[in-house]
Amino acid sequence: MKNSYPSAAQNIDHTPKIDYRSDTVTKPSAAMRDCMSRATVGDDVYGEDPSVNQLQRKAANLLEKEDALFVPSGTMSNLLALLSHCQRGEEAIVGDQYHIFSHEAGGASALGGVVMQSINTTTTGHMTAQQVAAAIRPDDSHFALSKLVCVENTVSGFVQDQTELNAIAALAADRGLLSHLDGARMMHAAIKSGLSPAQLAESFDSVSLCLSKGLGAPAGSVLCGSSAFIRKANRLRKMLGGGMRQSGILAAAGIFALDNNLQRLQQDHDLASYFARQLNLMTQVSINIAEVETNMIFADFSRAEGKNSHQSLAEYLMQFSISIADGSICRIVLHLDISREDVDLTLEKINAYYQQ
Ligand SMILES: Cc1ncc(COP(=O)(O)O)c(C=O)c1O
Repeated sequence: MKNSYPSAAQNIDHTPKIDYRSDTVTKPSAAMRDCMSRATVGDDVYGEDPSVNQLQRKAANLLEKEDALFVPSGTMSNLLALLSHCQRGEEAIVGDQYHIFSHEAGGASALGGVVMQSINTTTTGHMTAQQVAAAIRPDDSHFALSKLVCVENTVSGFVQDQTELNAIAALAADRGLLSHLDGARMMHAAIKSGLSPAQLAESFDSVSLCLSKGLGAPAGSVLCGSSAFIRKANRLRKMLGGGMRQSGILAAAGIFALDNNLQRLQQDHDLASYFARQLNLMTQVSINIAEVETNMIFADFSRAEGKNSHQSLAEYLMQFSISIADGSICRIVLHLDISREDVDLTLEKINAYYQQ
């Protein structure tokens, strides 16, 4: 009988070799794959997958929360937090640049009837406790009941001021609201600020951490909080179809990521800083170096005279299997699949493009 597995020819990897579009493009390393292949598994919907249970315990310990839940994605993790904290018609206050507000397809509103009120954040993602205080609705039958405040750290690679975030969480608690941290890239913030993950998480009722971005796992996030909160989130995860069975295979990658890929984030920050400084030496490129805080660079390639700016640069680089994101201000993301040699090669090619 013919098997239906893809042949080696069908399995050709068409993805760019040097990919700056996001840290979500990272592929599991050989060592991570080895851990995955050896993972002990069970049925996680029955709570019987030892690897999932181990990951959840590890994440809860790391953030010093009572419990944690392994979920397929950062979007589902945030959604579960919103739906666990808010009833239909209740309101979540969020930053207008936050992923939860702008890039999660309005899931909490569409699926949970949660009203989103957005607050203007600065270009570096900051919002203040005063802004949040002004946004909380008075107890009046005209208004949706303000129930939750969401913050994010890092926002577009910018580390948020922890004193301000703590003040926002304290204000929320004081006014009877709950608080959620979208910490998809909070480990970058921990490395940059020198604060522990638990210190970053301490003030918040719930925290979501992504394993599939800078930490290099192929999929998954962990949602952390009190045991009662995680019980609710677990029921909602099932309802949304996110109850996975032998997901220990994926959880093993998460365990590997937490054990091996946290401290190395500093290398991504250093490489981002090096890349930005070298790019800025080119007259055609403009970068605010002070804004390169973690693994992201925002580069303006539109200055080059006589060049069709960013679009043609992107096409030129693609010939060498180097991929950069779209947009006049281009977001460049460093991650564990990009080396110093890759960055030097990219600099060489960008230089060559401008010399043409
Ligand atoms: C800050 C932030 N939160 C949440 C998410 C959602 O994660 P996922 O793509 O795993 O759904 C992302 C994705 O890039 C993100 O950048």
